[in-house]
Amino acid sequence: MTNAYKIIDHQYDVIVVGAGGAGLRATLGMAAQGLSTACVTKVFPTRSHTVAAQGGMSAALGNMGEDHWTWHMYDTIKGSDWLGDQDCIEYMCREAMPAVIELEHFGVPFSRTDEGKIYQRPFGGMTTKFGEGPAAQRTCAAADRTGHAILHTLYQQSLKHKAEFFIEHFATDLIMDDGVCRGVVSLDLATGELHRFRAHQVVLATGGCGRTYFSATSAHTCTGDGNAMVLRAGLPLQDMEFVQFHPTGIYGAGVLITEGVRGEGGYLTNSDGERFMERYAPNAKDLASRDVVSRSMTMEINAGRGVGADSDHIFLNLQHLGSDVIDKRLPGISESAKIFAGVDVNKDPIPVIPTVHYNMGGIPTNYHGEVVTLRDGDPDSVVPGLMAIGEAACVSVHGANRLGSNSLLDIVVFGRAAAIRAAELVKPGAPHKPLGESAMDPILGHLDRVRDNKGETRTADVRDRMQRTMQKHAAVFRTGDSLSEGIDKMRGIVDEFEDVVVNDKNLIWNTDLVETLELENLLAQAQTIIHGAHNRPESRGAHARDDFEERDDEGWMKHTLAWTDEKANVSIDYRPVHMYTLTDECEVIPPKKRVY
Ligand code: FUM
Repeated sequence: MTNAYKIIDHQYDVIVVGAGGAGLRATLGMAAQGLSTACVTKVFPTRSHTVAAQGGMSAALGNMGEDHWTWHMYDTIKGSDWLGDQDCIEYMCREAMPAVIELEHFGVPFSRTDEGKIYQRPFGGMTTKFGEGPAAQRTCAAADRTGHAILHTLYQQSLKHKAEFFIEHFATDLIMDDGVCRGVVSLDLATGELHRFRAHQVVLATGGCGRTYFSATSAHTCTGDGNAMVLRAGLPLQDMEFVQFHPTGIYGAGVLITEGVRGEGGYLTNSDGERFMERYAPNAKDLASRDVVSRSMTMEINAGRGVGADSDHIFLNLQHLGSDVIDKRLPGISESAKIFAGVDVNKDPIPVIPTVHYNMGGIPTNYHGEVVTLRDGDPDSVVPGLMAIGEAACVSVHGANRLGSNSLLDIVVFGRAAAIRAAELVKPGAPHKPLGESAMDPILGHLDRVRDNKGETRTADVRDRMQRTMQKHAAVFRTGDSLSEGIDKMRGIVDEFEDVVVNDKNLIWNTDLVETLELENLLAQAQTIIHGAHNRPESRGAHARDDFEERDDEGWMKHTLAWTDEKANVSIDYRPVHMYTLTDECEVIPPKKRVY
């Protein structure tokens, strides 16, 4: 092991890793409660991927019609295809209303109704009266730039509360000591120096791993770095096989076109000009849940009814909405459609295709944001000192399929919950226990291993092979055979990592190194996705097996836990779904057939 690292030490009460919506909501909440708080982030906070969230944040405010949080809870459980933990879903849907009002008071510039209330639009799978009433208008929007508005507001609030930021720092590893998380190590991208942050709670808010796939709405930064740190710490990820394909990514570019387009009255057509969703989801039509719409689009394409020269995509029509609605409610996507598809949305449909968008799986937590693991057979045992929130976490409120606009809700509610919990657990200014002598060894050993790789293969080539393999073998529809083939290919690709070369050896640190560290993170997560999918012989939510078309509640209403070893071999176990509520104000929703 080299001793070439200059290490700079810091001590805080809490460290948040990641400055997207979840990270910033936790950062500001912790700082506001008097905890010394630092946020370590790979990109400048307002460039975090939350900035790309468009359509809005769900909350049963009832501004545009009758609504109730228990209806929202019902929709979320049904949307999750009964894999969501019902106590956590109750917490999220109940806390949605105060969380959104709090954002309004922080200064988020929500769109308004004529009466000045927060504007709410319909979104997929959101209904009233436990699915028996009309569609709910539940998604609070700031035009089609809601994530942008929330992110900027939360950053300003964090600065107001004197949180400190370490920007363009790449977090590499958790500092684990005897099963307790005692801090985190980051690499300062500008100087190449290592920073060792001691903290009583480390909060991972590092987002999803959309970049395991070739075509994703996710930013190139979405490499699931926190998830991979958890795997390296010997802890499991949960339900990674559940990867959401958003129905409307721009064909060929992967850029998101918000579900809000369909919420405002847009619809999908095939090569016959048919509104085919009427066949697949007679009630909800284009506003069925995302897994249903993405599968229906794929079936239309597979049946030869796709549009375009290769009949391989679908049209999203919004021409009929008129420029008033488009300019007021959907200005951002008009711009995206022009830039990325060359389409004037007032005249022509947008070419779209289901595109990887969201990881339902992630680091298992309880509804306080505390990381849980399967210790001594206890499926809810907490890992002291470690929290996870946002897309990095699997609370699990989204189960097998997330409803659109429940993600901005998740990040705000659980960012806030983590701050509340940290204030209960941490005494401001409490001293840090000295680290065991060998606590840093695995971290420095890991960095040495990657930096000193002496092979000849380019990082970008391995990444490309991984992304294409995942796109082909862990797609909207899966079979045991295609997954087995994918597993074999992925084994070879993971092994190639040992032959990757980090260029520019004259620099101690460089972007090539960071991309290689990110690739290592992606490879481990890709393994958990494809193995988890292969091990689950049923169809549930976003996991659609052509060889096991039905949901199997007897055998498979359980969460997958996946661990990896140093060579990214995967081992799997399971934990039960929480089929209980937190309070008596709502009832458990038993599983039933899921139709829209
Ligand atoms: O379609 C969208 O605006 C995306 C929202 C979401 O993923 O929640």
